[in-house]
Amino acid sequence: MNHYPNPRSRSAALYERAKKSIPGGGSRAMTFVQPYPVYAASARGCAVTDVDGVERLDFINNYMVQIHGHGHPAIVEAVQRQAERAISLTLPTELEIELAEILCARTPSFERIRFANSGTEAVMVAMKAARACTGRAKIAKCEGAYHGGYDFAEVSLDPTPQNWGNDLPRSVAFTKGVPQGVLDTIVSMPFNDVEGSLRALKEHAGDIAGILVDPVPSRVGGVPASREYLGALASFAKANGSLLIFDEVVTYRLAYGGWQTRIGIEPDLTTLGKLIGGGLPIGAVAGRADAMEVFDQTLGKPAYPHSGTFNANPLTMAAGIAAMKLLTHDAIDRLNALGETARGALRAVIAASGHEGQVTGEGSLFLIHFTDARLHDYRSAYPAHSGEKGAKLTELYRQWLDNGIVASSWGLGCLSTPMGEAEIGRLAEATAAALRRLAN
Ligand SMILES: Cc1ncc(COP(=O)(O)O)c(C=O)c1O
Repeated sequence: MNHYPNPRSRSAALYERAKKSIPGGGSRAMTFVQPYPVYAASARGCAVTDVDGVERLDFINNYMVQIHGHGHPAIVEAVQRQAERAISLTLPTELEIELAEILCARTPSFERIRFANSGTEAVMVAMKAARACTGRAKIAKCEGAYHGGYDFAEVSLDPTPQNWGNDLPRSVAFTKGVPQGVLDTIVSMPFNDVEGSLRALKEHAGDIAGILVDPVPSRVGGVPASREYLGALASFAKANGSLLIFDEVVTYRLAYGGWQTRIGIEPDLTTLGKLIGGGLPIGAVAGRADAMEVFDQTLGKPAYPHSGTFNANPLTMAAGIAAMKLLTHDAIDRLNALGETARGALRAVIAASGHEGQVTGEGSLFLIHFTDARLHDYRSAYPAHSGEKGAKLTELYRQWLDNGIVASSWGLGCLSTPMGEAEIGRLAEATAAALRRLAN
């Protein structure tokens, strides 16, 4: 039962059952892997136990959400206490104000904040806010960068050499039937390429409402945007009357006030999600008071009447407050140092294995790529995540599962605060064992 895959396991049986009511057997495409997903039964600290009783170290933490691992007593208690008081309400609660104050106090550019329910929603709301602020339609984003499932955000998410165009990136639809208007509204930029991105922006300058950028985009190689690049986008936005939007849904975990405080560039708006909800669904848009005024429902007909049944719901707010209070400067510094150790250990394991490969990532994130090529944008990272090399990463995922580790099927992993050197040691050992079984 300890081995993966095992057709006689309870997970395999559950997957057969799931396929009868859920297309593809599950509601999350990104986390699905053949031949079947491992079904979880429970989780504690940095370990997840599956329905067959197999325990694994969780090196993905619901895709970077569970920064404190699972079942942290302070978070569980906050959720339980709130569940007894009220789970879902129409009236606002003080909890919304408290989480808003906590986040605004952490990051200088957060003068105001609004809550939503996912990172996808946060990005959607930020794009709409930029449009409502400027009266312009177009949004610029980097080729290949993932910003959630909003159709505008999905433009040029996974282009191929066949359709990505020569020179400047084309706007490529993610699914069939995407309206041409959506494609025409997105200006696709080459990540980390100042000259190319400025050229793309200048072509549409008068129409650009917002420039959306994830400063360490994992789908674009997991290398950080240079300060020069982000600075150039900021200068262009300022001069052009566009809003600069940082997507810090993931990178907020990398520094006490998010990546922007580390790199010293203040965007107009920031999208947040994942860890700030303590494990419950959340999204948020934060930013400068004058830009955020677009949401102010007291100013007559608001420019953007943003609303949502579950916005700032009390359970999420309670969990988020508890999680953010635990995420002190010391906790982040320790986690980032452990991330450095993890990347170093993985690099050593890969070097000793004879496999071509490298490890990127910042702070508490790591990304494995089976290539020695320099990764600096989507196009340079593409060969390492498609075809044979992409399949090899998926095989690494299966081997990790078989060796007591859960991470992602495309080489991405992250750490949580209950982890220490011992867990990094186990990750390294499991990776070495996995690499011994993978063909070079
Ligand atoms: C950078 C980034 N933005 C937005 C999102 C979307 O967040 P959610 O899955 O909560 O909708 C994600 C999710 O992985 C993300 O990584």
